[in-house]
Amino acid sequence: MSTPETVTAPTATRTAHHRRYLMCRPEHFTVSYKINPWMEPAKPTDTAKAVAQWQKLHDLYLELGHEVELIDPLDGFPDMVYTANGGFVIDGRAYVPKFRFVERAGEAPAFADWFRASGFDTIEPEEVNEGEGDFLLVGDTILAGTGFRSTGDSHREVGEVFGREVVSLNLIDPRFYHLDTAISVLDPVEGAANGGPERANIAYLPGAFDDASRAILEERFPDAILVADADGAVFGLNSASDGYNVIISPRATGFEKQLRERGYNPITVDLSELLLGGGGIKCCTLELRAAGDEEKSA
Ligand code: ARG
Repeated sequence: MSTPETVTAPTATRTAHHRRYLMCRPEHFTVSYKINPWMEPAKPTDTAKAVAQWQKLHDLYLELGHEVELIDPLDGFPDMVYTANGGFVIDGRAYVPKFRFVERAGEAPAFADWFRASGFDTIEPEEVNEGEGDFLLVGDTILAGTGFRSTGDSHREVGEVFGREVVSLNLIDPRFYHLDTAISVLDPVEGAANGGPERANIAYLPGAFDDASRAILEERFPDAILVADADGAVFGLNSASDGYNVIISPRATGFEKQLRERGYNPITVDLSELLLGGGGIKCCTLELRAAGDEEKSA
């Protein structure tokens, strides 16, 4: 593990934390079915372009000092590039997904095998859930999305599996069908655990949630960045943060400015080809949290 790098930024001192990610090269990427409003099977896709764009994200993670593990892409599973849906991993324990749609069902055993072979404690689900697409760890709490993919019952199950508080949030706009398209976790670690000025914080798209969920977010995250519809609509929230560097879509120009004002370092990566499948930066990135990760980043 590398030591966190401390960077002095205009309005706050933010710390980049080491990350370990799981990614899948989109060698078989295409759009051959439609399970979200972004997917248009009649529209042509360019697999080589998808791979080239993905490679830039992959290489950037390495340049930033993060570790990237790879799972082999399976022929016939064009959505496997979106590894965020491949599980939810905390403390070296991997909760396996159970996909909503039959088109992706065959990915679950492949991810489970990868976790087992890589030394993770692997927990098979009873309930329909799409991994880190709908579960986000913020401090000690799991924010869990429902409405389109993961069920409310999976929220109970994920809470039991990890013994953590789960806050259920209702997604209401079909364009933002996974929680990671509507919320970006900027600083996952609480200030106290972190020993620094940071607090666990998020950015979110208010219009993606029903009134009750929006009220919960306002109460829990009074300092959150509220992202404009225009930035949300280009998948601006579907970003990956290490606590300082935030990888975002180049189209999310307003969000980029907001991040800068708060002392983050936004870096843009264009995944336009992968957006044809309804996914972006975060969708292509699954965080692998080892046991004791929080202490290590302190
Ligand atoms: N085509 C994929 C699906 O609809 C995209 C998944 C995007 N993943 C995410 N974490 N938001 O399932």
